[in-house]
Amino acid sequence: MNSPALPSPVFILDFGAQYSQLIARRVREMHVYCEIVPYDIVWSELALRKPAAIILSGGPESTLAPGAPQMDNAILHSGVPILGICYGMQLVAREFGAELVKLDHSEYGPATLHVDGSRTPLFESVPEDSRVWMSHGDSVTKLPQGFVNAASTARCNVAAMADDARKVYGVQFHPEVAHSRYGKQVLQNFLHGIAGIGDDWQMESFVDSAIAEIREKVGADKVICALSGGVDSAVAATLVSRAIGEQLTCIFVDHGLLRKDEAARVVEAFRDILHLNVVAVDARARFLEKLRGIEDPERKRIIIGHEFIRVFEEEAAKLPGVKYLVQGTLYPDVIESKTPQSKAGHKIKSHHNVGGLPEQMNFSLIEPLRNLFKDEVRAVGKVLGLPEAIVQRQPFPGPGLAVRIIGDVTEERLALVREADAIVCGEIDKAALDPKPWQYFAVLTPVKSVGVMGDGRTYSNLVAVRAITSEDGMTADWARLPFELLERISTRIVNEVPGINRVAYDITSKPPSTVEWE
Ligand code: XMP
Repeated sequence: MNSPALPSPVFILDFGAQYSQLIARRVREMHVYCEIVPYDIVWSELALRKPAAIILSGGPESTLAPGAPQMDNAILHSGVPILGICYGMQLVAREFGAELVKLDHSEYGPATLHVDGSRTPLFESVPEDSRVWMSHGDSVTKLPQGFVNAASTARCNVAAMADDARKVYGVQFHPEVAHSRYGKQVLQNFLHGIAGIGDDWQMESFVDSAIAEIREKVGADKVICALSGGVDSAVAATLVSRAIGEQLTCIFVDHGLLRKDEAARVVEAFRDILHLNVVAVDARARFLEKLRGIEDPERKRIIIGHEFIRVFEEEAAKLPGVKYLVQGTLYPDVIESKTPQSKAGHKIKSHHNVGGLPEQMNFSLIEPLRNLFKDEVRAVGKVLGLPEAIVQRQPFPGPGLAVRIIGDVTEERLALVREADAIVCGEIDKAALDPKPWQYFAVLTPVKSVGVMGDGRTYSNLVAVRAITSEDGMTADWARLPFELLERISTRIVNEVPGINRVAYDITSKPPSTVEWE
């Protein structure tokens, strides 16, 4: 992002922690512009951009391990305010001459942070004792020259160190995670108080720079966009269309795995309300054929992902000169689909828009939302003027109802889950809960059970209802829906959907479960 309109950035040096994006998100929440850069970037390159502050992320390695990621130490002596987090603090400590030891047992999880008497501005408005999240295997035993010990926990004597004169700081805990009660305050103190950065950056600026970046990348080439019906692809498509207008063609693949009436509504919204150039492809039979007899969740996901791209490729072949494919990939999709070779995470599921792509794809990808979390995407959607119904739409997985039908996906089973789902959504929407659950849907299980209806015995399907609260889909809790609402949902499903005679409510959180059942 090199648009001249951008303010001096806060750079986040990424040492491989899953939390780097979370740090970026927190910084954006404070209306400060930031960019994540690789840990080995050199100072001469950063200096050209006149950084307002630099944050060093945590990382999975120990600074004491051979081959641990190193940084250009000129950055630490540049005079730019520095905040090292966890691994980052240890790099700061080492460079300025501290002693470090490897702990016998790593400290991982919640701890009470005690802020010592030396009131550094880093801990302004942070109470003497507060809860923080720790995750480290090394510890500073002797402070470097010029630094004071600013905080401790029961197991970590130097949990924060401060050199107010040089504006260089280190915290052993993770201020970016929600479990650190005053973490936001610490980051705010660093950015606004210590580095003196204003709070005037807005999502509008993200939109402006994303548009400029897309224009520069695409030039005069043609682009197609994968419309799934969800908010992510809607926002991505609209952003790209603002950047390059008629060069964008949106392709909506009706794979037959959407919710009730959804396909028609999506096409209407994009064509008539957003005035995008949309080609709608009816691929329902084709997907059903590929999915026939497939029960394994990963195979379903991979098959759908592949088929999706194949359909795109066929459609694109009809449009000469298409070079790019836009996808609404978000940050949680990126890290949850990390391949096993990646240091930072284990593979949980092949998310449709990342892991399921075939190797020899003919397009280059444009993923303008890749660094954002869901609520930030909604904010971007609002800035772009998308209708509320699209912006507030609940997340829906790329593989659609196929991952909400446990076992074989058939037309009959799709119809069952669709009808049950429409009742779940209709009732929860009508209840106008505050706060509203983040996501809610029906899952068709392969379980059949005995029931009695009228005077007759039934032996039919079990539907599970899932409703969750979440901030970003990465963790979730089951929603405490009122019993009366659950009762209405259950009664209506059993009465109105022939073939379902029992309803269960899913009361597991993520982790250990996931949001979708497959
Ligand atoms: P899980 O089931 O992984 O879901 O806990 C987390 C969030 O991601 C959504 N989800 C997907 N979104 N493509 C998507 O775009 C996918 O393949 C996919 N799988 C799950 C899920 O609905 C929840 O919001």
